[in-house]
Amino acid sequence: MDGDNHFFEHIFSSFVDGVVLVSPNGTIGKANPAIEEMFRSSIESLTNKPLTEIFPEPSEINAKIQDTLTRGISFRDVRGQGIRKTSQSLFPVSVTVSPYMNHGVPAQGAVLHVRDMSLFKELEESSKRMDELSHLGALSLGMAHEIKNPLVAISGSAQLLRKRLPDQHHKFLDVVIKESERINRMMERMLDFARPTQLELKLLNIHQILEEILLLEKKNGRADFRFVQNYDPSLPQVEGDEDQLKQVFLNLVRNALEAMPEGGTLELMTRIHSNYTVKTETHPNSRQAILVEIRDSGPGIGAEELNNIFTPFHTTKSKGSGLGLPLSLKIVENHKGKMNVQSEIGKGTRVQVFLPVEQG
Ligand SMILES: Nc1ncnc2c1ncn2[C@@H]1O[C@H](COP(=O)(O)OP(=O)(O)O)[C@@H](O)[C@H]1O
Ligand SMILES: [Mg+2]
Repeated sequence: MDGDNHFFEHIFSSFVDGVVLVSPNGTIGKANPAIEEMFRSSIESLTNKPLTEIFPEPSEINAKIQDTLTRGISFRDVRGQGIRKTSQSLFPVSVTVSPYMNHGVPAQGAVLHVRDMSLFKELEESSKRMDELSHLGALSLGMAHEIKNPLVAISGSAQLLRKRLPDQHHKFLDVVIKESERINRMMERMLDFARPTQLELKLLNIHQILEEILLLEKKNGRADFRFVQNYDPSLPQVEGDEDQLKQVFLNLVRNALEAMPEGGTLELMTRIHSNYTVKTETHPNSRQAILVEIRDSGPGIGAEELNNIFTPFHTTKSKGSGLGLPLSLKIVENHKGKMNVQSEIGKGTRVQVFLPVEQG
């Protein structure tokens, strides 16, 4: 019996989701370490406190827990908000409430299974952004075509004039020619962005791709960078388009380095991501994904600005195209993956790329 208790104690503390035992009087009885982590509060400081310490009022969750305590019924996936008292910040949670049955007698309290839904929410938002992008894509495709045709006429005429006119006029025509070429290149990039792309799939070693990019960037390196590679050696190969994924990670590494003109730390991290669920008809169960994280110690991105970074042509750089992130998002979404950017002013930026191991 004692062995059994230990066994359950271990499960309780190993569980990655939060578990809370609620006492019959509605206070927090016990909690596992995942709760400490999730609410950034020690278990000692939560014990015997009212539930409002973790779920702010008014709350559907607290009402359901009361129901469970008085009537012994259970509720699955009640959505609401959790609160981190130390920072007064709210985050989305999903809670399953079950009556705690001791020796077969129900309603001796309640057991809560608490999941932090922050990442899920962010991924949902990233999908919404992609929908908006596909409309923009169609629009820019049409526009780019319309602009390219007269542009050819403009730069052709300028080149002709340059041949016919004396030298002192050349410098003006050179501006026309050079700037037309710049617009043309921009339109090409825009077309690249808007065109539907076919994936050439093969099995890829992501670490190899990351190493190639680092090698390239180190050679071009100007500032004083510290590179930290934190790779999971058991990372599986993923099915993907090599050129396109290279493009994604190159864009992200460049953004990170460009954010640190005076130098800084770039960290690349990989790991297996197990609770990534993309359910399809052929794969009704959740599938395995990998996570690649690119972190920099740059100035970070403010909350307001964070809403704009995936908008095509949005750039804060004098020579930026503003297409790096939207193009990367498009490629990642084509691979049935997700992207997520977290940043705070003064604390650097963390970009996460989730890619399913199998495309089929
Ligand atoms: N790691 C980063 N740190 C700070 N800002 C970033 C980072 N990555 C992207 N950004 C912001 O997002 C904008 C858009 O990025 P992107 O689409 O790659 O276009 P570009 O790099 O050409 O400006 C950048 O101009 C920059 O303001
Ligand atoms: Mg960029």
